[in-house]
Amino acid sequence: MAQEKSARPAVEVDNASFNYREIKAVDRLSLQVPRGISFGLLGPNGAGKTTLIKLLVGLLKPKSGSIRILGEATSRKTAHLIGYMPQLHSLYSELSAMQNVDFFARIYGLSDKKERGQKVEDVLRLVEMWPRRKDSVMNLSGGMRQRVSLACALVHRPPLLLLDEPTVGLDPELRVTFWDYFTRLTGEGATLIISSHTMDDAAHCDSLVFMRAGTVIAGGTPDELKQATAKPEATLEDAFLYFIHLGDKQHA
Ligand SMILES: Nc1ncnc2c1ncn2[C@@H]1O[C@H](COP(=O)(O)OP(=O)(O)OP(=O)(O)O)[C@@H](O)[C@H]1O
Ligand SMILES: [Mg+2]
Repeated sequence: MAQEKSARPAVEVDNASFNYREIKAVDRLSLQVPRGISFGLLGPNGAGKTTLIKLLVGLLKPKSGSIRILGEATSRKTAHLIGYMPQLHSLYSELSAMQNVDFFARIYGLSDKKERGQKVEDVLRLVEMWPRRKDSVMNLSGGMRQRVSLACALVHRPPLLLLDEPTVGLDPELRVTFWDYFTRLTGEGATLIISSHTMDDAAHCDSLVFMRAGTVIAGGTPDELKQATAKPEATLEDAFLYFIHLGDKQHA
């Protein structure tokens, strides 16, 4: 019998591939992410993290294999289930911070003006941009734009968040605030998928995968990945290098 949608994992990627002409950006990748956790995608530049996230959002279609989110095949209909923060900002620079967040709230279907106004305010306060809400995005610093971009992804409180390098450019204090908030969201049942280059983000994730050349080379909890190196003091960085070298040896 088919599994109930609500009982299926947040993300199911089955043998998915995507290439930009001859570049295999995602190569026969399989992945399952349970609901209610924070899940990290770690890997060097060009590993395929952004392409994988775009496949999950439904902006790209896999050339082969299948992708389901929250039990449904990705399509326009699943868009409202997702909060997507792209790696490159998609803000309107002439509009104010608040107008941008309000615009995304409307796109995501928050049609009730009063409810939308409250959610826009809440999320702008959360990212500590409420005092600067009337400033045009073009007059904000890089980190501030990052915060507004995150607010746009969070405003409709979606069950699945796909955040492409959301902590880049944030000062350390705000990074801590963000992770406190991410942990609260997963505690409330949301699923968070986050790409990152920092081992600090990786350590916060409940589970993560190391990616390279469009594939997953290792996965597990931060502790499991560290233990795999068999070194008592291993860091996540050591674990990453360990799996890269292991892959090189296997391909030699
Ligand atoms: N629009 C595009 N056209 C052609 N090739 C692309 C395009 N976008 C990505 N690629 C290629 O696909 C591969 C995977 O890129 P992707 O952006 O998914 O990597 P990433 O892991 O997100 O890297 P980064 O850490 O630098 O953000 C790279 O070789 C990249 O050059
Ligand atoms: Mg990327």
